[in-house]
Amino acid sequence: MRLVVTGRAGQVTRALQAAAGHGVVVIPAGRPEIDLLHPDGVDVALAALSPDVVVNAAAFTAVDLAETEREAAFAINGAGAGAVARAAARLAVPVIHLSTDYVFDGTNPVPYVETDAVAPANVYGQSKLAGERAVAAATDNHAILRTSWVYAAAGKNFVATMLRLAETRDEVGVVSDQQGAPTYAPDIADAVIAVARNLVADPHEPRLRGIFHMTGAGATTWAGFAEAIFARAGARRLPRARVRPILTADYPTPARRPANSRLDCGRLTSTHGVTLPDWRDALDRCMDAIAAQRAADEDKKT
Ligand SMILES: NC(=O)c1ccc[n+]([C@@H]2O[C@H](COP(=O)([O-])OP(=O)(O)OC[C@H]3O[C@@H](n4cnc5c(N)ncnc54)[C@H](OP(=O)(O)O)[C@@H]3O)[C@@H](O)[C@H]2O)c1
Repeated sequence: MRLVVTGRAGQVTRALQAAAGHGVVVIPAGRPEIDLLHPDGVDVALAALSPDVVVNAAAFTAVDLAETEREAAFAINGAGAGAVARAAARLAVPVIHLSTDYVFDGTNPVPYVETDAVAPANVYGQSKLAGERAVAAATDNHAILRTSWVYAAAGKNFVATMLRLAETRDEVGVVSDQQGAPTYAPDIADAVIAVARNLVADPHEPRLRGIFHMTGAGATTWAGFAEAIFARAGARRLPRARVRPILTADYPTPARRPANSRLDCGRLTSTHGVTLPDWRDALDRCMDAIAAQRAADEDKKT
C-alpha cells in the first residue's frame, strides 16, 4: 500500500515515515513540488507518485499567527486541502485528511462527538473547518480525522517547549482551565495506517468514511500535561521545573482557545477498530525517545 503524505518534515509525516514497513510504503510529498499555497500542480504531482491512499497532513499550524495571516491559513488549510482531495478523487483513491478539535468552541461540558455543532473560536479553526468542507465536497471517499494537542520527540510542540523553558527556569506558568487529550504523532501514524488499510480493503463501505475523532485516550489540562512531562524528566536526565497553574485569562494569546477540547473517539473504535493508547503511556514512550536522542547526540560530541 503506497501512502502519499503531504508535508515533508511535519510531526505526522515523519511519524508515518517511521511507521512504514509491513507492506506499507510512505512517500512524503511536500514543498517545492507540492505547495498548498499554490495548489495548481497538486494533481499532476500526486498522480506521478501513484498513491493507493493520499494523506493530507500538511497544514498551516501556527495557531496564533493565523490570526494575522488569515489568507495563508485559509489558502493552505481550506483551498489546499480541497485541491488534495480533488486530486485523490481523480485518481479514484481515498483521502485521509487530518483536522482538529479547534473546529469546536469548547463550551460543551462533555467530550465532543462527530455530529456536534461546529463553531471555531479562532482563524486556524475556521480555516481547518473550511478544509473539512472542501474535502467532503471533493469526494465521498474520505476519512477526516480530528485530533488534538499533537506532539512528538522532535518538532515544534508543547513537550519541546516545556523542556526548553526548564533549561532556564525553575518554575513555568501553565494554563489549568483548558482540557484536552495529548496525542503522540507515532500513535496517529499507526491509526492512519489502520484506517488506510480499511478504506482500501472495503472501497464502497460508507460507514468507514466521514468524520472521526482520534486522540490519545484519557484527558488532562495543559498544566497536567506539563506536570506529567516533568514527572518523567528527572529519571531520564532531562530538564525539569515546577508547574504554576494559571488561568487562560492570565495568559492572553492572539487566538482564543477552547476550554474543552476533549473528543469522544468511540466512532473510530466501533467502525475502524482503532483506539489510541492512553496519553500517559504515550508520553512515557516520547520521553524515552527524547532521552535516547539526547544521549546519542552527546555520544557524537565526545
Ligand atoms: N500540531 C497540533 O497540535 C495539531 C492539533 C490538531 C490537529 N493538527 C493537525 O494535524 C495535522 C498534522 O500536524 P503536525 O503537527 O504534523 O504539523 P506540523 O508539524 O506543524 O507540520 C506542518 C506540515 O505542513 C507542511 N506545510 C505547511 N505549509 C505548507 C505548504 N504551503 N505546502 C505544503 N506543505 C506545507 C509543512 O511542510 P514542511 O515540512 O515543508 O515544513 C509540515 O510538513 C495538520 O493537519 C494539523 O492541522 C495538529
